[in-house]
Amino acid sequence: MTLHHFILTIHLLAATVWVGGHLLLSISYLPKALKKKDPKIILNFEKKFEILGMSSLALLIVTGIWMAYDFGVTIETWFDFSGGFETVISTKLVLLFCTFVCAICAQLYFIPNLDKYNIRIMAFIILTVTLIGVAMLVLGSTLRYGGI
Ligand code: HEM
Repeated sequence: MTLHHFILTIHLLAATVWVGGHLLLSISYLPKALKKKDPKIILNFEKKFEILGMSSLALLIVTGIWMAYDFGVTIETWFDFSGGFETVISTKLVLLFCTFVCAICAQLYFIPNLDKYNIRIMAFIILTVTLIGVAMLVLGSTLRYGGI
């Protein structure tokens, strides 16, 4: 196993936790919380998933940037959208930024005051982060064919 392969394995494990956790929340817990108008169902999940989820996101960023450098996509070429590889990595970075914006809004405004009135806004944020995660995964899978 090369070092790149090892880093890719960590990236894939972290993607499994990040995307899997959000799919579980979106498909299983969120519909229950909306049906019962019970924010505690979401809050309990967030509490259990927080450390695992945040560590997996941190690992995705570190390993992703590491592999991007292995492919010669360095910070000077980010957001040039010049080649297939560079386009995928830049798009992933933009989506990562969108994930941060959603996380900050959720942590600062919605999670501290989550009630049966703003639960729908929180549901929108959760679904957005889940869809972004799936998009990041699909984008990652295109890299072995040279990107988009
Ligand atoms: C939610 C965040 C992310 C998810 C779910 C994700 C998921 C994936 C997946 C599923 C692959 C496919 C690997 C394969 O087909 O063998 C991949 C590859 C890759 N990802 Fe990510 N990724 C994320 C974030 C990032 C970030 C932030 C970067 C860097 C800026 C990045 C850079 C890469 C690179 C360079 C590869 C290609 C590795 C290779 O084929 O050797 N990823 N990613």
